[in-house]
Amino acid sequence: MLLQVLGTAAGGGIPQWNCACPGCSGARAHPGRRRLHASLAVRADEGRWYLVNATPDLGDQIEDHPVLHPGPRPRQTPVAGVVLTDAELDHTLGIWRLREADRLEILATAPVRQAVDHRLRLGPVLTPYTTLTWRELRCPGTQPLLGDTGGPAGSGLLVSAVPVSGKRPRYAVDAPADDAWVVALRLYEPATGRTVLYAPAVAAWSDALHQAAAEADCVILDGTFWDEEEPRSAGISPRTATGMGHLPIDGPGGTARILATLPARCLYTHLNNTNPLVDPAAPQHKRLARLGLEVAEDGMVIEL
Ligand code: MLT
Ligand code: MN
Ligand code: ZN
Repeated sequence: MLLQVLGTAAGGGIPQWNCACPGCSGARAHPGRRRLHASLAVRADEGRWYLVNATPDLGDQIEDHPVLHPGPRPRQTPVAGVVLTDAELDHTLGIWRLREADRLEILATAPVRQAVDHRLRLGPVLTPYTTLTWRELRCPGTQPLLGDTGGPAGSGLLVSAVPVSGKRPRYAVDAPADDAWVVALRLYEPATGRTVLYAPAVAAWSDALHQAAAEADCVILDGTFWDEEEPRSAGISPRTATGMGHLPIDGPGGTARILATLPARCLYTHLNNTNPLVDPAAPQHKRLARLGLEVAEDGMVIEL
């Protein structure tokens, strides 16, 4: 299985355009500390890739990764579609940038599709530009990642949506409750038996998520905030990390203690610009390393 890490920042990116916090200022002074919005590209088949979430940085993310470049025909692209883990703006705004596509496939759970298609009006706005095809990401459920299974049955990657939380985006707080607003993606390759779990937004550690994490070879997890008080101490929100829909890394309710017990290779992504980990010299990196945990970096290739 082959994954390219296209970005590792939470909403706003690092630096965030209107932010002069130490993390953002540090990234302005040291361009190597910049992080694009969290996203992955997953190879579904030879020369066919799915983007996991479509961020506002999507144009640069495609240019940064030659495997996603078009060719050999002038408008031939290896980007087959987009899989959404949720309907948050930082994970969906990039879809509009793909409007030049001949066709575009989007996999999403029912509530996420409803929000993006109707509240954000993706369908009505993009239909004059391209042919959008929605495929339901069944939750729970397992399905081939490639919709038009060209190859022999069972040869391609399988994707499962693991329910994580019912947290709705701010623009859809009044939408109906549903367990599938936020999911983790489990990507399984039958040919190698390898499994990756991608969960960039984790508001609660459910039994289903724990089981999926315990069975995975690689877990890429929500690392938005280092600790529970960070949003308040950084002055960006009156809420706690968990209150903002992101379990913190550190502390009694944090995810580091859980990840450290798993056999998988574990990496944190979706780092907020207030997270001390955005400074490569921060002592928190050593704390994670002692637990055997990693921080994902933009441009990382993960091969399993
Ligand atoms: C989140 O991850 O909680 C959201 O992306 C926050 C936001 O930018 O609205
Ligand atoms: Mn986000
Ligand atoms: Zn900042």
